[in-house]
Amino acid sequence: MKILLDTADIDFIKKANDTYVIDGVTTNPSILSKQKIHYIDVLQEIRSILGDKKTLHAQVINQDAEQIIKEAEFLHTTFQGNIYVKIPVIPEGYKAMKYLTERNIKVTATAVFTPQQALMAAKAGASYVAPYVNRIDNISGNGVNVVADIVTIFQTYQLQTQVLAASFKNTEQIQKICLAGTQAVTVNEDVFSKLFCHPLTDWSVNTFTEDWQKTYGQKIMSD
Ligand code: E4P
Repeated sequence: MKILLDTADIDFIKKANDTYVIDGVTTNPSILSKQKIHYIDVLQEIRSILGDKKTLHAQVINQDAEQIIKEAEFLHTTFQGNIYVKIPVIPEGYKAMKYLTERNIKVTATAVFTPQQALMAAKAGASYVAPYVNRIDNISGNGVNVVADIVTIFQTYQLQTQVLAASFKNTEQIQKICLAGTQAVTVNEDVFSKLFCHPLTDWSVNTFTEDWQKTYGQKIMSD
């Protein structure tokens, strides 16, 4: 199960990468446009924090196959290492996916809302598909079910494409898509921070410390 960060916030990525085990970073044009420095510098910085092995998923801007291919080739050659080009599942996007994956440029199909779109992206050679769980929930759909159906279809037809579930508002959505068998999730800072915490954990640990200090003061086990 891979956990990626859906952000371009360098400080947060550094801190999360130092403290926890993360498998990569995803960005999109909205995320990159909120940064104060140029997007190329942001992506370079993320690449250097991640090293060569962890995955970086960077998205194209254009909606025309020829331009998508140009952008994808640029991203592929500029950001060495484990780079996946995110391409939306629009008709021109599928066309570009087919062209690029035949030339060994790795693709993450993004903005996926239905299992059918995921299937077509897998047929076009995408390594990952990214269904938008919370955005599906927001239109009275069921994001978890969409992810579960994609996982089942890929398993049934032994497709190698993996599911990189995206767009979360809470950790329950993540728990449920994990149970459905998704291979990877990408989460923003707010949801990521909630994956690790519980008030009862804090209360328990503080009680241990207080009880110990009543008897032993500041002494630690090795004293
Ligand atoms: C995924 O590729 C997208 O960048 C992202 O997860 C969308 O998330 P949002 O719906 O929280 O914006």
